[in-house]
Amino acid sequence: MNTVFLNGAFLPLEEAKVPVLDRGFIFGDGVYEVVPVYSKVPFRLDEHLARLERSLAAVGIGNPYTREQWRGYIAALVARQPFEDQAVYFQVTRGVAKRDHAFPKHAQPTVFMMSNPLVPPPAAQVESGAAAITARDNRWLRCDIKSISLIGNVLLRQLSAEADAVETILFREGKLTEASSSNVFVVKDGTIQSPPKNELILPGITYDVVVELARANGLPLEFRDIAEAEVRAADEIWVTSSSKEVLAVVRLDAQAVGDGRPGPLFRQMYRLYQDFKRKVMRAGRRESVSV
Ligand SMILES: Cc1ncc(COP(=O)(O)O)c(C=O)c1O
Repeated sequence: MNTVFLNGAFLPLEEAKVPVLDRGFIFGDGVYEVVPVYSKVPFRLDEHLARLERSLAAVGIGNPYTREQWRGYIAALVARQPFEDQAVYFQVTRGVAKRDHAFPKHAQPTVFMMSNPLVPPPAAQVESGAAAITARDNRWLRCDIKSISLIGNVLLRQLSAEADAVETILFREGKLTEASSSNVFVVKDGTIQSPPKNELILPGITYDVVVELARANGLPLEFRDIAEAEVRAADEIWVTSSSKEVLAVVRLDAQAVGDGRPGPLFRQMYRLYQDFKRKVMRAGRRESVSV
């Protein structure tokens, strides 16, 4: 029996019900987060809560809970699951109101949380790398908001699913943005590169961890606009997300990336990421990156 959280109560998934006039259902009017949990310890929870606060502020939904309350509810949800490694999903919608695009005056935000087993990429995929395809980034222009309106991302992800690939890497006006549900890094001549954070990409929590690890270990790193041709000529391509962690893309649109195997900088970053995770788990709390 999977225990979920709805508006302050813990209950079995089957009993969690939301009115059909919830604006999340009617308009996709809400924001969300996904936090990875290792050995029942949430990873980078403060950063996820900070991003939630930014998303809520950007769409004008009041935050129903303090950070302490969020932490408490998430800890209680995690404790109620029988598995160690989890992916905690939580969303806040603008609440239930008569259908009208303009904000309702008196609606209460709806809060739903669930936690599922965390499934990282299989070891064989980490070892051999994965395939990705590319597409034009035709989403809206506020991809920095973690909106539950994911139809654009869903349609783009479906393209790679149908091509048996793990991700769809996106270009807007000929420049790399991100992928359908991950951020993207490329490596050229020993330098790790990624697009700068702006309104066209989600500021990934994993992206930040990778950046911190690169800096702490003296790996050359650059944020800049990356042309589509540069991505196709890259020595390495990585996708990063809370569930994929850091994963090497070794085939892009059926062409080999570099020599077609995960590159040396990927191997180094993967090891750094796993070591950092273990350190955080041992400490039982968030730690900053140190060499
Ligand atoms: C569009 C998009 N970009 C990037 C990411 C990676 O973000 P994070 O590292 O915080 O999981 C996600 C995660 O779901 C995403 O949906």
